[in-house]
Amino acid sequence: MRVLSGIQPTGRFHWGNYFGAIRQYIELQQGQEAYYFIANLHALTTIRDPETLRRLSWDAAVDLLALGLDPDRAALFLQSDVPEVSELCWLLMTGTPLGLLERCHAFKEKKEKGITADAGLFTYPVLMAADILAYDADAVPVGEDQIQHIEVCRDLARSFNHRYGDVFVMPKAKVLEHAAKVPGLDGGKMSKSYNNTIEIFEDPKAARKKIMRIVTDARPMEEPKDPADDHLFALFALFAPPDQRAAMDATYRRGGFGYGEVKKGLADLAEAYFAEARARREDLEANPKRVADVLAAGAERARRKARQVLDRAQAAMGLKVDRAP
Ligand code: ADP
Ligand code: TRP
Repeated sequence: MRVLSGIQPTGRFHWGNYFGAIRQYIELQQGQEAYYFIANLHALTTIRDPETLRRLSWDAAVDLLALGLDPDRAALFLQSDVPEVSELCWLLMTGTPLGLLERCHAFKEKKEKGITADAGLFTYPVLMAADILAYDADAVPVGEDQIQHIEVCRDLARSFNHRYGDVFVMPKAKVLEHAAKVPGLDGGKMSKSYNNTIEIFEDPKAARKKIMRIVTDARPMEEPKDPADDHLFALFALFAPPDQRAAMDATYRRGGFGYGEVKKGLADLAEAYFAEARARREDLEANPKRVADVLAAGAERARRKARQVLDRAQAAMGLKVDRAP
């Protein structure tokens, strides 16, 4: 099985990104071929400042490596370092009905809000399809918000294969566990768009301050509480080992505790949880050449694969004219 996914460098990674996506990417690198890329071409639809894009793309690579992405197992690269994908995107675009793209949420939502969309946002799903098909990926781990895009990819692959012969491998979405479930400081979904995030590599003191600000209810301390509908407990449970989680579960049901204690416990757990990654991150920051080498090697490996698939697609479409027909 070949696994592939992309993550946009549109902000520093937060706990939602980690538990919703990155942790699973890292687990999936075991035992199968894996390709992970930083989707900087997709990010161009929202980030227009070159310095910001460069900084966030670099930080994304360093963060992923620090969190355990192993470049000997998974190819890690920048999307834009594989130009074959952009060419494949054009080939796919010539067979993409406009209606299919008009139905995609990202575009529909902007249009409904009266925001003028550009062609990049409109054709975003086609580039994503090219990303996936260029590597013959079988499994694409994504959050629930991306499933529609995988369906578009499958539609495009199906109609291409129907018209031109079997060129593309049919990919499947692998919906991530915990996706869309990590709550933020206000109890809603953690997302940079809601300004309610705690970043993975935030300074521990600043993170602790944010944790102390997590919104809680005003029920009396003595009252027993149901851990299942408490977002502070949900966060605690993500970090706590099973015995500590069970003990906190019992404390909630019993009542007679303050949310402040839970927050303090959460801050301690989170700090310890990411301590090793933080140390690895510092090493990587002191050794930027290593990061640059990883990205270059990842891109080379990815390009080799993408070239083969692009050759197949070009030949099937009648683009190779190297001898008399
Ligand atoms: P954001 O909502 O902060 O803009 P992205 O949309 O860039 O985050 O998310 C990147 C990945 O992280 C996606 O696969 C998404 O499903 C996952 N993710 C983001 N926020 C959460 C969350 N609160 N809970 C679980 N997964 C999340
Ligand atoms: N659109 C995805 C997101 O915003 C990122 C992405 C780009 C992607 N290309 C991809 C994910 C290919 C999976 C496969 O999260």
